[in-house]
Amino acid sequence: MIAKAFRTPGGPSIDDLTLDEVDVLPPGPSQVAVDIKAVSLNFRDLAVVTGRYPRRVTGPTIIASDGCGEVVSVGDGVSTFKPGDRVIGSFFQNWNTGPFAREYGNSALGGAIDGVLTQQRVFDQAGLVRIPEHLSYAEGATLPCAGLTAWNALVPTAHVQAGDTVLLLGTGGVSVFGLQFAKLHGARVIITSSSDEKLERARALGADETINYKQNPEWEKEVLRLTGGVGVDIVLEVGGGETFPRSMSSVRASGQIVVIGVLTGVAGTVPLGLIGLQTLSVRGVYVGSVAMFEAMNRAIALHRLRPVVDKVFSFEKTRDALHYLQSARHFGKVVISLEK
Ligand SMILES: NC(=O)c1ccc[n+]([C@@H]2O[C@H](COP(=O)([O-])OP(=O)(O)OC[C@H]3O[C@@H](n4cnc5c(N)ncnc54)[C@H](OP(=O)(O)O)[C@@H]3O)[C@@H](O)[C@H]2O)c1
Repeated sequence: MIAKAFRTPGGPSIDDLTLDEVDVLPPGPSQVAVDIKAVSLNFRDLAVVTGRYPRRVTGPTIIASDGCGEVVSVGDGVSTFKPGDRVIGSFFQNWNTGPFAREYGNSALGGAIDGVLTQQRVFDQAGLVRIPEHLSYAEGATLPCAGLTAWNALVPTAHVQAGDTVLLLGTGGVSVFGLQFAKLHGARVIITSSSDEKLERARALGADETINYKQNPEWEKEVLRLTGGVGVDIVLEVGGGETFPRSMSSVRASGQIVVIGVLTGVAGTVPLGLIGLQTLSVRGVYVGSVAMFEAMNRAIALHRLRPVVDKVFSFEKTRDALHYLQSARHFGKVVISLEK
């Protein structure tokens, strides 16, 4: 069939996106054709369409990693899914289980390979998981990148425990999921934002302490005050160059910094000596595997957790959705709906 899809030539601007007609072949052996119903956007998609992603897209590529929809047909040998099933694509199509390996990077949707901002896409059955039943398509579409990254950071990587204090930076997609998963595990949450209104929304979701990082540029001092001078147990570091040294000052001795993002860029000075002197664990995560995705979805289903969807745009308004994400006015996730 012919599907409409948003493609990027690799930048330099959101407005260089083209709405193209692409051929979708019928599913082959072990493949599944999915009518895409909703797509969520990530900071990474902005980097890809503006040509700033480290692994640059070089030809017309369908954008976005996070999409879900309904199975419409299956190829030979498909046993896991049938037409009518509600499914989500895994960010890395080839990372099934175990630790990350370099070659999985070649299977990243909306970067190394075509993404999901298309009316229909064919996936290998191993690269799909089911949407938790209580979630809408718009909610399900938020899970593959921001949701799974926060889950991986807190649960399989940092092993968050009830009673831990977790520091989250800003109220974008990863941090808001971090807030929800930290509370699910009985942790205390300190979250920062540039906006008091967003901090109110974070409190409504269960944040214990909030800090406006514009009003408190030295927010690490406030973090230390709120933790009796000790520091937090875990930081989900999404800020990069500007925030990393402050995160190092915010964490307790022998605490953990999970390195996720570079919202403020990669340039900065890291006081390396502190890592040894404070016996810190500094560990990167890169989204997560299908096995982690399934574990996260079990927890989401059991606790009937609902992802935070800030705003839904129509498929035709994709460029507006990306501009809105770029303005950073959102709290949680920005979604594009393809439902009729
Ligand atoms: N390693 C991985 O696997 C992985 C996966 C997902 C994302 N990431 C990376 O993680 C980062 C966050 O991604 P996202 O999708 O959550 O982004 P996002 O939704 O676009 O986050 C935007 C928000 O970040 C906050 N922010 C910006 N500058 C900040 C600063 N100096 N201090 C604190 N907060 C700041 C702002 O929150 P307020 O408006 O509240 O101030 C802003 O609204 C990106 O760099 C992304 O590439 C990495």
